[in-house]
Amino acid sequence: MATKDELKNLKIPKHVAIIMDGNGRWATGKGKSRQYGHKTGSKTLETICDDAYSLGIQYMTVYAFSTENWIRPAKEVHYLMHLLRHYLKDSIKKSKKDNIRIRVIGNVQGLDNDIIEKIQTLESSSSTNTGLNLQIALNYGGRNEIIRSIKKIYHDIENNQLHIEDVNEELFNHYLDTQDIPDPDLLIRTSGEWRISNFLLWQLAYTEFYFIDKHWPDFTHTDLIQAIKYYNSKHRRYGGLVNEA
Ligand code: FPP
Repeated sequence: MATKDELKNLKIPKHVAIIMDGNGRWATGKGKSRQYGHKTGSKTLETICDDAYSLGIQYMTVYAFSTENWIRPAKEVHYLMHLLRHYLKDSIKKSKKDNIRIRVIGNVQGLDNDIIEKIQTLESSSSTNTGLNLQIALNYGGRNEIIRSIKKIYHDIENNQLHIEDVNEELFNHYLDTQDIPDPDLLIRTSGEWRISNFLLWQLAYTEFYFIDKHWPDFTHTDLIQAIKYYNSKHRRYGGLVNEA
């Protein structure tokens, strides 16, 4: 446990992104179904959102379902969608109580109509909440997001709403799903894998990465603080020199 003084001296990252990996392995290691692992993982997400906000984190982006996850066995995909429906429905009430603003990033149009409706209801009902900004990545892939952004830019150029000369990094940011959200300062991936699996490819350009061996359902407040301590041990240079102030 970190003491109050230790916490007071920590620089808290504004935006933390999380790859919540290992639900399946966690559950099979306990002789339970992978579904049980995902259910427990969704509870861990709720706890970590509360912890994050109480520590002063303003934005959290979590990878809940990737564009590649459709190739999992139909039973598992079906269960994840079932969990998602419940999560979205419960969040409509809960986000109000907890003052969380929820947005979904990813290719939302590729989801079932009732899920799209729930997302729209949740996004609009939570849009004026002033606490944690939670982005849930659903049917999300970084490459897919970049391609969709390029298509939107092309469309606006064709319709004379944009000139090719005006396309730069700042403008490109506005065409991404994360348009008005700052880039993540810290990425956490659980479960011991050291890769980013097509998550936020554009936005992670200068992010610090923290990998932890634990599976997502076991991730705790103390682990979050450890990740923040690691972040504090890094000197972000954004391409500058080692000794630059
Ligand atoms: C990775 O674990 C996790 C996922 C593909 C889904 C993440 C989903 C949740 C944490 C719960 C659902 C969240 C919402 C918002 C409803 P894995 O299945 O790849 O685990 P493994 O690598 O051990 O097989």
